[in-house]
Amino acid sequence: MKVAQLQINPVLGKEEDNIKQISGLLNNCSDADIIVLPELANSGYNFLTKERAELFAVHHHHDNFISFLKEYSVKLNAAIISGYFEIDGDNYYNSSIFIDPKGNMCNYRKAHLFMNERNIFQPGNVGFPIMEYMGVKIGMLICFDYLFPEAWRILALKGADIIAHPSNLVTLNARKVVPAQAVINRIFIATTNRTGKDNGLVFNGNTTLYNPSGEIVASLNDHETGILFSDIDPEMTRNKMITDLNHVLNDRRPDIYSELL
Ligand code: ACM
Repeated sequence: MKVAQLQINPVLGKEEDNIKQISGLLNNCSDADIIVLPELANSGYNFLTKERAELFAVHHHHDNFISFLKEYSVKLNAAIISGYFEIDGDNYYNSSIFIDPKGNMCNYRKAHLFMNERNIFQPGNVGFPIMEYMGVKIGMLICFDYLFPEAWRILALKGADIIAHPSNLVTLNARKVVPAQAVINRIFIATTNRTGKDNGLVFNGNTTLYNPSGEIVASLNDHETGILFSDIDPEMTRNKMITDLNHVLNDRRPDIYSELL
């Protein structure tokens, strides 16, 4: 199975420009089975205030971006996962959509909001859904969700083989935490980050595909836009043994974890 990750540099508030940038890369993804884009790929990230986000929402609706992704999913015969700015009445969500060529869709809303995102977006309220494509179970987390081990674990317990992780990362913490989660859960993780700047925030690229041993299968550099292609064998995630005698899920002790809740 071939995964393509698109490291782009969205322009804040300019959806048409962002769609143009994304389509330029998608046109080179004809071999891919699963394609992962960054967080808020249609809108850019750092609106600073609710008023500026509202201005974007007045002129854009995510239906346009979702239609564009649907069209490419059919054209490329691939599942596409992308972060986007979701508008639901007066509420905005920092969301990720899964779309496959048959028209199956699944929406995830970012659960853990980063810095002043909480002034703009509602926190996610759809749990941690999972979908299946070509026999592979796919989960989604968005950027800062990575810091919360419970989110990864829930998806792993639901059978995720790969977690698509659309991101707009500005610190280096994910480079330590994400490979550890790949090991802890024995899953593939496709962290797809952006480059460039929005209103003083600098995004640090390094889009990476991690295997279930936490190793880097492939990665891009910190600055350039482009496509990262990786071949993955989903069978690797079905073996949850970390030693001959230890299973990363079955060896948990939920009977003594009640203090977590
Ligand atoms: C982030 O959640 N965009 C850091």
